[in-house]
Amino acid sequence: MERLQKYLSSCGVASRRKSEELISTGHVKVNGVVVKELGTKINDNDIITVDDIDIKREEKVYYLLYKPEKIICSVKDEKGRQTVIDLIDTNEKIFPVGRLDYDTSGVLLLTNDGELSNKLTHPSHNINKTYYAKLDGIINSKDINELEKGIVLDGVKTKRAYAKIKKIDKKNNKSYVELTITEGRNHQVKNMFAYFGYKVLKLKRTNYEFLDLSGLSIGEYRRLSAKEVKKLYSLK
Ligand code: URA
Repeated sequence: MERLQKYLSSCGVASRRKSEELISTGHVKVNGVVVKELGTKINDNDIITVDDIDIKREEKVYYLLYKPEKIICSVKDEKGRQTVIDLIDTNEKIFPVGRLDYDTSGVLLLTNDGELSNKLTHPSHNINKTYYAKLDGIINSKDINELEKGIVLDGVKTKRAYAKIKKIDKKNNKSYVELTITEGRNHQVKNMFAYFGYKVLKLKRTNYEFLDLSGLSIGEYRRLSAKEVKKLYSLK
């Protein structure tokens, strides 16, 4: 059993408040009968219409995309450029969960499940995201330690992070660092390294909690399994 206004909003008809308005102004029928009562409960067998149009629950879909560089991470681009949505063959109204920069590659989740997306992007959930960064310059362990403990960006200290130097290329003056953060502030990884004067030359997200890029080439995607979706829902 579910409240009628909640059902309408979860089907994407309108916001919860607008759905209530539709109900109380007589636009909504349950099994052919106009229902104006806001608390009305419905079940899976009831047929719901708004202005005599059938309202069906949309199927929830979940994709993991290996985002290439130079693709915009939003649903639409005002200049008509290609976005991550164009890479996925679906009729569902999907959107990216959080953001990756235009020039960042790697793990990106896309879904039409607003509830899961809100949960995963909410700062209180501490979702682990791991990045592999190529830096201009040779990073030292003092900076790595400071980076891990937290630095002040835009007046707010970053949460505990985990960083590991993977490779130092002295000849070309480059460093390769793996960094795991739980926040998702704008350009966070780039800004964290910029704080110490390192420019990020290349950035790839290799992991999103237990999800990684195995089996995928750049630009490829796959559906998440029901087990993986359940696991994402159960993350604290
Ligand atoms: N941090 C960044 O700076 N860029 C990204 O795309 C993701 C995290």
